[in-house]
Amino acid sequence: MARLAGRKIIITGGASGIGRATARLFRQEGAAVAILDRSDNAAKAVADEIGAVAIACDVSDPASITAAINKAAEAMGGLDGVVNAAGILAETGIADTSAEVFARTLAVNLTGTFLVIQAAAPLMQKEGKGTIVNIASGVGLMPTGPGSIAYVASKGGVVALTKSAAMELAPNIRVNSVCPGAVETAMTAGHIRTAAGDPNPAITARYALGRHAQPEELAAAILFLTTDESSFMTGIALPVDGGRTFH
Ligand SMILES: NC(=O)c1ccc[n+]([C@@H]2O[C@H](COP(=O)([O-])OP(=O)(O)OC[C@H]3O[C@@H](n4cnc5c(N)ncnc54)[C@H](O)[C@@H]3O)[C@@H](O)[C@H]2O)c1
Repeated sequence: MARLAGRKIIITGGASGIGRATARLFRQEGAAVAILDRSDNAAKAVADEIGAVAIACDVSDPASITAAINKAAEAMGGLDGVVNAAGILAETGIADTSAEVFARTLAVNLTGTFLVIQAAAPLMQKEGKGTIVNIASGVGLMPTGPGSIAYVASKGGVVALTKSAAMELAPNIRVNSVCPGAVETAMTAGHIRTAAGDPNPAITARYALGRHAQPEELAAAILFLTTDESSFMTGIALPVDGGRTFH
């Protein structure tokens, strides 16, 4: 049985990585999907492959978001779900992070998540129901070590934003976050494996399961939080992190 039959869902960042795996899974489960991504060509390629709608969008730009979300809802005949997976990485520490890099990281990861929720919520209220899943990060719960100050701050913000939005949009719209550990995507391509192509032991050592994740393992958790199987869950930050943050 298709677990998302009849659902109409926007996935930001759906052109790559976790968002792309989620878009594929959601289509398999019967949802209509609109991919909103700044990478127009990649979004189109994924959309063509799975039978989704691709719309160019920069989640840090309010006008771009409003236009894209309205277009997506029009194409799908409404909107009752959002997955906020667009994001960027910044790996510098306090001394090396410029004000511009700090602001840009927050603009995409945190403000972008807020702006998408702000534009999408009224359309979901019109449907009388909806789900929002924000992709935060395990580092938003517990940093892995020094560095990445802007990224960590943005993801901690997404965890808190999720709780605040869950309070405000209840009971019709459930809002949850997923906190991934290290996932093999374009974002982590530089360091998730060694030069020889093996999993990076400096990363895998942090995980009780002793390995990094594939994007499909995140998509499965995002699917759960989008279906009615999680109907009594809202405001949570769900670690999907191979056991890094529980101890
Ligand atoms: N890969 C990991 O290890 C990991 C771990 C924890 C959290 N996350 C989070 O998961 C989410 C997805 O990351 P991923 O690993 O799949 O990365 P990715 O780089 O493969 O995909 C990110 C997508 O977001 C899009 N994007 C970036 N900025 C955008 C903008 N301003 N407007 C619209 N689209 C934009 C990119 O074009 C890309 O398609 C991100 O929020 C990331 O921070 C990833």
